[in-house]
Amino acid sequence: MMYNIDINKMNQLMRENETARDIINQLLENQHSMVSTIAHEVRNPLTLIFSSLQVMQVQHPEVKEFPHWSQTLSDVEFTCQLLNELSALNNGNSLNYSVFSISRLLKNIAVSFAISLDSQNNSIEFTSSIPEDLDDFTGDKIKLEEVFLNLLKNARDAVGDSGRISLCVSQSEDSLIILVNDNGCGIPQDHLEDIFEPFKTYKTDGTGLGLALAKRIVESHGGSLSVSSIENTGSTFTVKLPR
Ligand SMILES: Nc1ncnc2c1ncn2[C@@H]1O[C@H](COP(=O)(O)OP(=O)(O)OP(=O)(O)O)[C@@H](O)[C@H]1O
Ligand SMILES: [Mg+2]
Repeated sequence: MMYNIDINKMNQLMRENETARDIINQLLENQHSMVSTIAHEVRNPLTLIFSSLQVMQVQHPEVKEFPHWSQTLSDVEFTCQLLNELSALNNGNSLNYSVFSISRLLKNIAVSFAISLDSQNNSIEFTSSIPEDLDDFTGDKIKLEEVFLNLLKNARDAVGDSGRISLCVSQSEDSLIILVNDNGCGIPQDHLEDIFEPFKTYKTDGTGLGLALAKRIVESHGGSLSVSSIENTGSTFTVKLPR
């Protein structure tokens, strides 16, 4: 895994030496296509296995009583999800640009999120504040949607069965600022340094790719993703996107 310090050294080498730049670019391209190929090739048969297991369960409901059946199903489902997120992370830098209403996108996300909370039996209070008059935005709509869903999903995990989550949007002269706030478990100081690293998770069922992917997507739009958090009090994730 490459950390910021290595990336800085690599960037410096690329600036100073043209041959090194070409070789590193080639290696990065190879790495990108290798990750895509492996994720794709493993995901296909695994998705088939998952579908077959589901069909078996429908046709023979008694299998649900077998020891380890449900664990096997959820392990296979988790691995499919992991491969999906790995592909998404790998493609986080390649954006499909379009011009769209960011107010509408964020409102739709807020409505879907509120519905998903309502369908679960909990007492989480969700509020959103999204101005109507935001300028149209140029960016990758689907990838940005993924960013906000990941942040909201983390907030939902952090509050447990009761708590408050908010999504607040504002714009300054040069940026659009989106805050996702929760009053959940918060993040210990020593975790704050590594939660944006791929595969870093402190959950038993997490892949640890959500924030790495969100950061990559936001930075590909020329923006930034930051966090402030106090353990046992709550967290605020701030997405800043250039207008
Ligand atoms: N709102 C939050 N409150 C508390 N901790 C958080 C919050 N958001 C992220 N974290 C911490 O950051 C870690 C990394 O988050 P990330 O979204 O990358 O992965 P994950 O949520 O663990 O897994 P996945 O996103 O695949 O479900 C989490 O495991 C959790 O410890
Ligand atoms: Mg997550």
